[in-house]
Order: sequence, then C-alpha cells, then structure tokens
Amino acid sequence: MSALAAEVGAINLSQGFADFDTSPELIELVNRAMKDGHNQYAPMPGVPGLREQIACKTEKLYGAIYNPDTEITITAGGTQAIFTAITAVINPNDEVIIFEPAFDCYAPAIKLMGGIVKSLELEPPDYRIPWDMVKKLINNKTKMIILNSPHNPTATILHQEDIDELSAIVQNQDILILSDEVYEHLVFDNEIHHSMARYEELRKRSFIVASFGKPFHATGWKVGYCMAPAALMQEFRRVHQFLVFSVNAPVQYAVAEYLKNENHYLGLPEFFQQKRDYFRKGLEQTRFELLPCFGSYFQSVTYNNITDEKDSDLALRLTKEIGVASIPTSAFYTKGTDHHVLRFCFAKRQETLDNAVERLMRV
Ligand SMILES: Cc1ncc(COP(=O)(O)O)c(C=O)c1O
Repeated sequence: MSALAAEVGAINLSQGFADFDTSPELIELVNRAMKDGHNQYAPMPGVPGLREQIACKTEKLYGAIYNPDTEITITAGGTQAIFTAITAVINPNDEVIIFEPAFDCYAPAIKLMGGIVKSLELEPPDYRIPWDMVKKLINNKTKMIILNSPHNPTATILHQEDIDELSAIVQNQDILILSDEVYEHLVFDNEIHHSMARYEELRKRSFIVASFGKPFHATGWKVGYCMAPAALMQEFRRVHQFLVFSVNAPVQYAVAEYLKNENHYLGLPEFFQQKRDYFRKGLEQTRFELLPCFGSYFQSVTYNNITDEKDSDLALRLTKEIGVASIPTSAFYTKGTDHHVLRFCFAKRQETLDNAVERLMRV
C-alpha cells in the first residue's frame, strides 16, 4: 500500500511509521557516536551500556531483573528478534499458536522451521482471545504461544484476565511464549502494559521482543532487542551469532545515552494518546465507524454504512480515488477473513491527519 500511495500521491496512513522526525537530540547522539569512532563491529550480544540501560528500564517499569550479560541481546529490529527466537527453538512438527489478525512475520518463520501454525481467529469489535479455544488447541506438540500487546493491527491490549488465563494454561506445561511488545510504550487511558516480564510464571518461559523504531520514531534504524532467561537466551544467541552477528554500533551507543532520561519513554503514552484522540475526533465527522483503540498507533474502522465492498477493494479505491492509503485487516488473516475493517496509522503530523480526515469526509 505504501508503494501504491507513493505512485498515486495518496496520504499514506497504511504502513506503521511516523511522518515526523525523531528527536534532534537522538540524531545528535548518533552523530556523536560516529564522530567518537564507534563505527566498527559492536559486540555480538550488543553494546554493554545499552543492555544495562534496558535492564534498568525493565526493572523500573515491570519489576523484573534481567542480567544484561546473559539475558538481553540487541537485534536488528523486532522482526529479526522474532525470527531468531522462532528459529532458535522451533523444530519440525512443533505446534505454535498464533492469534489472527497477526503481524505478518510470525507464520512464515514458523513454517520455515517445519513448525505447524495453529491459528485462532479473533473477531471485531473486541478481538478478545478466546481462552477456552486456546485450551482445546494445547497438546503435547504445543511448543509456543505468540502474543502481541499492544496489538497490531487491532490496537487491543492484554488485560489482567488474559494474564490469569494464560498463566493457568501454561503452568506445569512445557510451553514457551514469544511476546511481541514492540508497542510497549503506547498504552493509553492510564492502562498498564502487561509485559510478560511482570509475571514470574510467564517471564521464565518468554522471549520478549522490543524495538526502538516505534517509540523513537525511527523505524528505519532497525534496532531492537530480545530478553529471555539465560537458557533460552543462549539458544537465541546461537542463531543470532550467525544470522546477524553484530548490530549497528553508533545507534546502539546513542540509544544507550538517550534511555538515561526516562522522560524519553515515559512521555510516549501521552504524546500518542493526543494523536489518537485528535484523529478519532476527526474520523467521527466521517461515515466510518470507529473500533476501540487501547494501544499501538493504529486506529481501525468499519464501513458497513458506506459499502459492502471487500476491505482490500475499498482500501485500493480509497488510495486511488480519495487519496488516503490504509491497510485492509483481511491481509492479517491467513484465510483472508474479511470483517470489513480498515487500519489507519496515526503516527502522523497534525496536518497530515487533518488532510486525511478532510478527504475521508468525502466518502
Ligand atoms: C507487531 C509488530 N511486531 C514487530 C514489528 C517489527 O519491528 P521492527 O520494525 O523493529 O522490525 C512491527 C512493525 O511494524 C510490528 O507492528
């Protein structure tokens, strides 16, 4: 959709990235790291100072202690961390439970390793996880459950009830968790982020994946990390060593410094919540119907008042005829399930959101 948006000159609210710049301070820190000569290979697990800052942040936010030497690895973004975690532990015929709509890189990585994708479809408007169905899917081949909160594309978050259900399901079972938490700082309305790191029963079996691209408006830098207990992290690093070996050094030095000021991440919920509220207010003037948005920087809408077109057809038409690009949520279901839902990214300047709303009012 981004390619099409560029081709036809549409406002691009499809792919998840900011259209405003990352902080000048952070850019300056990257420049400084380069000028200071941090231009050669970083250590395989990542720059120690960055791993230490991540450990500090995790303890402060979630009360969990991760050893930076053995339990944290810097990666080339969240996608690489996800691929590496799956590759490290999934063997042929292992079953992995995922929830759809799902971010697109989970299933291919599982299949590449010969694993079997067991997907459960979630439904609008709430997209809550049906834990009874999860229980029915569990058997002795179940190796992993993949979770994503805040969730792309639906903007839902895990709640305490979900954590309770999940903990009960995995207790005394040999099941791993891959928790995609790349939107951990984008949780709204004073809700908390239920990181797996908070809960001992879950933490001890979890790979937690995070990304600096989302919080720091720098998706192009592709630097993230994975945290896991030492035994799991050892397996992770066996793959990381030969897949990536070393991640962009100057960005790591810069982020290590930037993370020392907690306001750089504690201020994010408010910053993005304002954008969410502004965009929702704008969309209320259109004929689209808003779905809830608890976290992430995505706002989904339904359009049953407007047309019965397939979501993919409507997304194409809106891009070409109205000049606003979105993502049809059916793209996140293996079977292409179409609930007539479009996803817009609101990590955009006010002017961009205004222009998009003005065009969408014509629909
Ligand atoms: C849910 C989810 N996980 C992982 C990623 C990938 O993160 P990165 O860009 O750091 O690879 C994204 C990016 O859109 C995402 O939405």
